[in-house]
Amino acid sequence: MTAQEPAPRLESAPRPESLARLTPVLTKRWLSPDAWRIDVYEQLDGYTALRKALTADPDDLIALVKASGLRGRGGAGFPTGLKWQFIPQNDGKPHYLVVNADEGEPGTCKDLPLMMADPHSLIEGVIIASYAIRANRAFIYIRGEAVHAARRLRNAVVEARSLGYLGQDILGSGFDLEIVVHSGAGAYICGEETALLESLEGKRGQPRLRPPFPATHGLYNSPTVVNNVETIASVPYIVLGGADWFRSMGTEKSPGTKIYSVSGRVDRPGQYECSLGTTLGQLLDLAGGMAEGHQLRFWTPGGSSTPMLTAEHLDVPLDFEGMASVGTMLGTTAVQVFSQADDVVYATYRWIEFYHHESCGKCTPCREGNYWMVRVLRRILAGQGRHEDLDLLLDLCGNLLGRSFCALGDGATSPVMSSIKYFRQDYLDYIEGRREPLLAGAAPGAAGESTTGAELAGKDS
Ligand SMILES: Cc1cc2nc3c(=O)[nH]c(=O)nc-3n(C[C@H](O)[C@H](O)[C@H](O)COP(=O)(O)O)c2cc1C
Ligand code: SF4
Repeated sequence: MTAQEPAPRLESAPRPESLARLTPVLTKRWLSPDAWRIDVYEQLDGYTALRKALTADPDDLIALVKASGLRGRGGAGFPTGLKWQFIPQNDGKPHYLVVNADEGEPGTCKDLPLMMADPHSLIEGVIIASYAIRANRAFIYIRGEAVHAARRLRNAVVEARSLGYLGQDILGSGFDLEIVVHSGAGAYICGEETALLESLEGKRGQPRLRPPFPATHGLYNSPTVVNNVETIASVPYIVLGGADWFRSMGTEKSPGTKIYSVSGRVDRPGQYECSLGTTLGQLLDLAGGMAEGHQLRFWTPGGSSTPMLTAEHLDVPLDFEGMASVGTMLGTTAVQVFSQADDVVYATYRWIEFYHHESCGKCTPCREGNYWMVRVLRRILAGQGRHEDLDLLLDLCGNLLGRSFCALGDGATSPVMSSIKYFRQDYLDYIEGRREPLLAGAAPGAAGESTTGAELAGKDS
C-alpha cells in the first residue's frame, strides 16, 4: 500500500489472510468463561507446564528460554534467557523475581487484560521462572490504580497456594516459593525497573545508577530478575511447546507472538495477539479498518515513547528490527491510531505534559527540558509561536536525548522530534496564523509568556 492510498476500511469480517495472523497463545483462554478461576484454568491445561518444569534442571529451563529467543515484552526487547543466565549461582544470597505489572506507557493495554482474564498463567510463569533462577520469593509490582487486577491476582495467589502450587515443597519437588502482590502508588517512573525496585523497598521511586545491574545488585542488593507480565506469562507455553514451536511464530530475530493493543480511530479497538512482524495494515484489517469517516494520519507503534509513523508505514513489520529500520521502536506494541480529525501538535503537547508531570526530577535535562517543551508547545498552540520555536524544540530534544539519567527523558523526545519530522507544516500553520489557536485562552505565564532561547539558556545555567 502507498502513502496515497487510504487505509483499509472494512464493512464486514476481516480478510482471511489477516484473520490467519491472529495467533491466540497468551490470549487463548480470554474468551473462556471464568478462566481466572483455578479449577477452570486447570481444566484448560493450567499448571501442566509447571509439573513438567519442576522435573527439569533449572539450568535446562534457562537454556530452553534462551533457545526460544523470547525477548522482553516490557519495551526494550532484551533476551529473557540471557537475563536469567546473568543471575550468579551459589553466591549464598537470596534471589528475587520481580514482575513489572506497572503498565504505564500511554496507549498500552495488554498486561492488565491478561491479569484480569488469565491471572494463573502469570502465576504459573512466575513459579517456573523463580525455579529457574533459584528464587524463593517473587514480587508482582502492580500499578496502584489497578485495584481490580490486584484483587484478582491476590485471589489467584491464595487459590494457587491452597492447591500446593505455592508455599513449601511445591508439588513435592522440594522447591519453596512465596509470591507478594505489591500495589504501587501510580507513577510512570515506577515502571522503570530500578525505580520500581526502589519503590518496592519503600523508598521514593527514582532510577538507580547502573552498573551495577539488578542481575547482581537488585532488590535488597541481591540478584534480581525484572521481567514484564507478558514476558513471564509466555514461559509456561514455551515449556509445553518447546523452543522450535515458539520460533515457528514471528520472525528469526523477533520470535513468538505479541499482544498488540490497538486503540484510537479504528472500528474495533482491542487486543490482537499475532505473530511478531504483523503490519499495521493487517492489524487495521483485524480491527475492522479505520472508524467511519476517518483516514489514517499518524500512529505510534509502541506507545508515546516510540517515534510516530504515518500512512507510509502501513506495511512495515511490527517487530524489533522492522521498527528500527524506519527509525522507531517496537516498544510495548501500543498501536495508537490517529486520523485527520486529530491535531498532531495538540497530541504532542498532551504527551509532553504527561512526561513533564511524570518526570521524577532526579536529573536536570528531563526535569527542565520537559518543563520548557510544555511551555513552547503551549505557546505555539496559543497562536504565539515563532519560527525559531521549531529549532528551539529540537534543541531541547538534543539536550534530553542521550543526556537524561533514564529512558523517560529519551522517550519524551520521540513525539516532538517525529511530529516535527513528518508534520512540520502543522506547526507552521499555527505559527503563521493559518490555523485558529487551540489554546487561545491559555493562562498568562503559560501560553502568553515570552520564552526565548536566551531565556532558556539563562534558566538552565
Ligand atoms: C519510564 C519507563 C517506564 C517503564 N514502564 C514499564 C512498565 O510499565 N512495564 C514494563 O514491563 N516495563 C516498563 N519499562 C521497562 C523496564 O525498565 C524494563 O525494561 C522491563 O520491565 C524489563 O522486562 P522485560 O525484559 O520482560 O521487557 C519502563 C521503562 C521506563 C524507562
Ligand atoms: S530522565 Fe527524568 S525520570 Fe529519568 S531520572 Fe531523569 S528526571 Fe527522573
